[in-house]
Amino acid sequence: MGIIPVRWTEECVEMLDQRLLPTEEKWLKLKTFNDVADGIRDMVVRGAPAIGVSCAYGIALGAKNFVGMSVDDLEEELDYVCDVLSKTRPTAINLFWAIDRMKRTFQKAKDDGKSVSEIKQILIDDSKAIHEEDIESQRLIARFGGELLENDSNVLTHCNAGALATGGVWGTALGVVRGAVDQGKSVMVFADETRPYLQGARLTAWELLQDKIPVTLITDNQSGHIMKKGMIQAVVVGSDRIAANGDVANKIGTYMVAVLAKEHGIPFYVAAPMSTIDFDSASGDDIPIEERDTREVTHVQDIQLAPEGIEVGNYAFDVTPNEMVDAIITEKGVARKPYIESLRKMREDG
Ligand code: MRU
Repeated sequence: MGIIPVRWTEECVEMLDQRLLPTEEKWLKLKTFNDVADGIRDMVVRGAPAIGVSCAYGIALGAKNFVGMSVDDLEEELDYVCDVLSKTRPTAINLFWAIDRMKRTFQKAKDDGKSVSEIKQILIDDSKAIHEEDIESQRLIARFGGELLENDSNVLTHCNAGALATGGVWGTALGVVRGAVDQGKSVMVFADETRPYLQGARLTAWELLQDKIPVTLITDNQSGHIMKKGMIQAVVVGSDRIAANGDVANKIGTYMVAVLAKEHGIPFYVAAPMSTIDFDSASGDDIPIEERDTREVTHVQDIQLAPEGIEVGNYAFDVTPNEMVDAIITEKGVARKPYIESLRKMREDG
């Protein structure tokens, strides 16, 4: 069935605690929307599509736990729930996409004159639908993206854009690899470790080992060397938010990889569902970049790496300009430049 990092049960939301991987596989039971918000903020679950799915489940949980009888009071409670969830991770647009969708679902149910208990069930059902649709999107991304990879090729990826970062099973960037493997191609992955949070070392390496897809872990600063040596045939990454013009926000360091890929004439592909495209952001300049706790840079777990009191930067994402992106692979197909047109057309085509 594949890895699924978050799931709805009748009494709570369960999340695989990604902070503990690869050494421990522990599932947490989150009983309130505040627990879900904390889980997203603290990186129990991470990766834009997985954040979106978790957020939808958090809203469903907020509705389920509401004790009043009036639809207006439920609406007020859900506005509060959405506000709390919206303040967890600023760059991942899927979070806001899920909030918008669940709010629209609530509004329709209210307009249709549904009762509180009916609305609760409608919201639970829609959160499950969001999860299923996400997995289906990744399946299609895998199929379209897999066709872009050559047989006997080596792919470089950055961060973790795998099943763990999505609703599950495929992943976006790793979905492309899985798609190519399903199509009978031999593909090997080089995984950047991805300082400072080490999503590549901890999560991409773990996930690909589970699937028995060949993977070699490298430190981030080895990528230029292996590209120069001709060891990489394609770069495939995911995204947290893609602007209307095709500028791509993704894990810090992605831009460096894109510059290197361009220098070495290596195709640079981005794989993401349509829910990651932010048509309200005209360019990457409009995308908020999350800054995280500086302790992620100065420490690895309890081990201190840097002197006390040092000034530290910890930008969690960067923006790769659209001209460096050779294709954006979505569940609707493969978009090419100019993205301002191809992405809009994909949206209009339904
Ligand atoms: O900080 P994270 O681990 O949530 O960052 C994740 C990424 O940057 C992923 O590449 C992105 O969300 C795409 S996941 C399919």
